[in-house]
Amino acid sequence: MGMNSASFPPNQLDGNAISNALTTVSLRCVECSALYPGIGKQPRYRCDCGGILDVEAMLPNPTQPLDALQEGYEALTAPESDFTPLAGANWRRLFDERAMLPPTWPIRVDTHVPDISGVWRYRELILPVPERFIVSRPEGNTGLYPVGREDCDNRRAGHRQIGHYAALDRFFLKHEGENPTGSFKDRGMTVGVTMAHLLGARAVACASTGNTSASLASYAAQLGLPCIVFLPAAHVAGGKLAQSLAYGATTIQIIGDFDDAMRLVEHVCNELDIYLLNSLNPFRIEGQKAIGFELLQQLDWQAPDWLVLPAGNLGNTSAIGKAFRQAYQLGLIGHMPRIAAIQATGANPFYRSFVSGFRQREQVQADTIATAIKIGNPVSYSRARRVIEEGNGVVEEVTDEEILAAKTVIDRSGIGCEPASAATLAGARKLVQHGIIKRDEIVVGILTGNLLKDSQAGIPQQKQTAAIEASIEGVRRALGNET
Ligand code: F0G
Repeated sequence: MGMNSASFPPNQLDGNAISNALTTVSLRCVECSALYPGIGKQPRYRCDCGGILDVEAMLPNPTQPLDALQEGYEALTAPESDFTPLAGANWRRLFDERAMLPPTWPIRVDTHVPDISGVWRYRELILPVPERFIVSRPEGNTGLYPVGREDCDNRRAGHRQIGHYAALDRFFLKHEGENPTGSFKDRGMTVGVTMAHLLGARAVACASTGNTSASLASYAAQLGLPCIVFLPAAHVAGGKLAQSLAYGATTIQIIGDFDDAMRLVEHVCNELDIYLLNSLNPFRIEGQKAIGFELLQQLDWQAPDWLVLPAGNLGNTSAIGKAFRQAYQLGLIGHMPRIAAIQATGANPFYRSFVSGFRQREQVQADTIATAIKIGNPVSYSRARRVIEEGNGVVEEVTDEEILAAKTVIDRSGIGCEPASAATLAGARKLVQHGIIKRDEIVVGILTGNLLKDSQAGIPQQKQTAAIEASIEGVRRALGNET
């Protein structure tokens, strides 16, 4: 691929359009507040001080048709004390109009594809890029399942089991496993690969335990861009590995765990001028904010009391926290939901920091059955810490046994998820038991990935019969007293 040569001539043909579009975007260091341009000569993933970066954006063109929204948008950059919910109704109207289109590919080429995506529908709050650069499957538009004890009628008796398990009356699960490649990663990746397109990157790369790589491989293949994925050998689910290979990614297995792969890929990308698309890349976080916007829209802009989610690399904790803050600042919602980030006991560095009042940043050698959150040194620690501290959030831990028990409940309800996602239910149940979440509060939980990842973990094998002879007698014997 010849990747040693400088590989980032910003897309030559559109140089002006790009710089115009992105002059309104800056990168701010989460640690020392240093400010950098959104696009520099080289992509930048860290501040000179080593801190991670956060995207700050202004509405690019305050003329029509968004004039009425500009006032509200300016609230995003106003100091905390100056917030007034100015233009919430205008924003709600805009997003609700866009959500009227069915979320499928249009047959007519002039239909507005960004409106159909559950990410680009909120594009003013995601990334101001010219639409012709957008690389979209489209993604998002995932289900929000009412599973609370009060929310389920008889046609949802199975789903109600989840509400009973958590002891919650009004409980919703948003299933990000319904994204095109089977996880929430597609929301960040549509933005990340759009940036790669805009920048004229010649190759993209990531470290992954499976979902990130499958997602990047798919979006890179759509754009026709070489993709390299670094996977911790022997720690990646077979189906996920198959996805990356099938989409044509160069797949490099390394000796070590996800944290080792993450360190390596950052080094490789800086050395070889490959565009890095882990959530260290702040534009990925901007895409993942859409999980927050979309669930608020699905609740008709009535903010829940709590948002519960699994926490590994802390990308979603950062992204959804940021989305809620922006939605509140814009007047889209009337109050900020509290966030509960749930870690596995064997991979709990964020929990350890939280219980010590964030006095220091902890690291662990991660070990949990939930491979997606088996992360000992989370990249987005500082972003997520800010979210938890500013929003009165909590961090909880759950054991592998608790994760598997919760997964069985979600699976048997007919919804199903991979193990890390089940930490959401295990965590919600524990927080209710501890009296932190009240039984009558409105709670949204995020399921981050599809059941087919780590599909061996926690699946009841006894329901499978041995092969039987193909006869009615054979079937009777096999079913025994089940009928
Ligand atoms: N849930 C799923 C299904 C994941 O795949 C991941 C991360 C997480 C949760 C944790 O995300 O950053 O929001 O805490 N998966 C990475 C990967 C490691 O390579 O696919 P976070």
